[in-house]
Amino acid sequence: YIVSTSYRTAYHFQPPRNWINDISGLMYYKGIYHNFYQYNPHCALWCWGDITWGHSVSTDLVNWIQLEPVIEPDNPSDIDGCWTGSATILSGGQPVILYTGGRRDKRQVQNLVLPKNPSDPYLREWTKIGNNPVIQPVVPGLNRSQFRDPTTGWIGPDGLWRIAVGAELKGYTAALLYKSEDFLSWTIVDHPLYSQNYSSNMRKCNMWECLDFFAVLPGNNSGLDMSAAILRGTKHALKMSVDYFDKYLIGVYDLKRDAFLPDTIVDDCRLWLRIDYGHFYASKSFFDSKKGRRIIWGWSQEADCRSDDVAKGWAGIHTIPRTIWLDSNGKQLLQWPVDEIESLRTNEINHQGLELNKGDMFEINGVDTFQADVEIYFELTSINAAEPFNSSWLFDPEEHCCEAGASVHGGIGPFGLVILASNNMDEHTVVHFRVYKSQQKYMILMCSDLRRSSIRPSPYTPAYGGFFELDLAKERQISLRTLIDRSAVESFGGGGRVCITSRVYPAVLAGVGKAHMYAFNNGSATVRVPQLSAWTMRKAEVNVEKGWSAI
Ligand code: FRU
Repeated sequence: YIVSTSYRTAYHFQPPRNWINDISGLMYYKGIYHNFYQYNPHCALWCWGDITWGHSVSTDLVNWIQLEPVIEPDNPSDIDGCWTGSATILSGGQPVILYTGGRRDKRQVQNLVLPKNPSDPYLREWTKIGNNPVIQPVVPGLNRSQFRDPTTGWIGPDGLWRIAVGAELKGYTAALLYKSEDFLSWTIVDHPLYSQNYSSNMRKCNMWECLDFFAVLPGNNSGLDMSAAILRGTKHALKMSVDYFDKYLIGVYDLKRDAFLPDTIVDDCRLWLRIDYGHFYASKSFFDSKKGRRIIWGWSQEADCRSDDVAKGWAGIHTIPRTIWLDSNGKQLLQWPVDEIESLRTNEINHQGLELNKGDMFEINGVDTFQADVEIYFELTSINAAEPFNSSWLFDPEEHCCEAGASVHGGIGPFGLVILASNNMDEHTVVHFRVYKSQQKYMILMCSDLRRSSIRPSPYTPAYGGFFELDLAKERQISLRTLIDRSAVESFGGGGRVCITSRVYPAVLAGVGKAHMYAFNNGSATVRVPQLSAWTMRKAEVNVEKGWSAI
């Protein structure tokens, strides 16, 4: 079944060939969006020592041109790989990049590169400075091979630059804080920006990779530049990639203590909120000065076997960039695909006033079911049938999605979308909700269940899930937006409260048949659909291979 073109996405960011992983640096500079990313120019696998910084540019975040890699391993400070880091635009408008270099002796160090010609908006060439590495792992108690992924810099109240670097220090996980006047020489601050101390009975989580630290305003979706004056009411988000997921904490950046203080301390990192509850890792955000918003996106690895990646010749995609902001309750982040992606919508279809009773499946016809954008509002006719919520499910929402799959009848739900379904349903992917009552509030479970997504044995097909709170006494509607792009499915529930990215490899996609899409309800309470819209998504021009010189 493996046909490289079948699983290749039509409008997601991916390389023409070979391997990509983390988004490593993002910026908007002189009218151009830049995406720098972990890129193996030689093959579709991640191997030690070969990782470079790939580089693509765009004017609209939809269509991308791949330029030549900008940082390649060539000296003792990065010979084992030019790993993840971040871009920062300094006060005078000068862009800089800090990245982690892997050394042969397994030490991880932080290096600086500068653009050769800052007047070139494409920033095609970068130079490693002579005094690299600018930061060495010399702090007592630091695990020298767990010290990486510097954040974008921000200016503190004393006018000095700061960055955070993920590290394992004396057995605990920390976001180490460094200060600098000129971005070249750095000193460690005597305390971390934030760290997690472990008591013996606590569950330990891994080192925080790909840290991101940014300012947000409750209920306001305009983004903030971290280095701008801190406004009243500003909160901060600390994001870390850990234990296969991108998690975050909301709190305040205490300027006196120069430390991040989470609003609530939750010891068990399994309970931390996630940027995405699916197959999504190593995300990074940046402030988009063109449109005054903060944008985040992440890497979604292939979930098929490695030999299939080699056969396809490419591996890894980046999600659709998302605007990210803080909910008005100040507790959780919301995300929504950037508006620009709507420029690919075509063949709009609409349905109003549908009613889905228990067991109903409404087929959505008229759009390309392999490449679609679907938005549905589900309206609950009654909330009395909600079953009781069990807070232990929060530790493992994936397991609960397996127990409470789409075929398991509930009080309210499951209802949602069945996508990429073959004629006889032996292949189908389900994105669905279930409503539970927890004391005075309602908890919504959202699942992206891949267990029947492919008849092929090799793909990884879990059921992903996450919970969000909704005040159903006020708001009776639950929205679902799903972007389907061949092997990529990105779903946004409750207006972006829970986001789930999945990778699917159905045989039906490889030309064996037609795929169907349905709205369904399998709960005892009737669900109305006041509005259902769907579009075919056109193909974007993403990193079309032309050869470096032809660009
Ligand atoms: C996360 C990560 C980073 C590292 C990079 C190497 O996926 O392990 O911590 O810098 O990938 O490619």
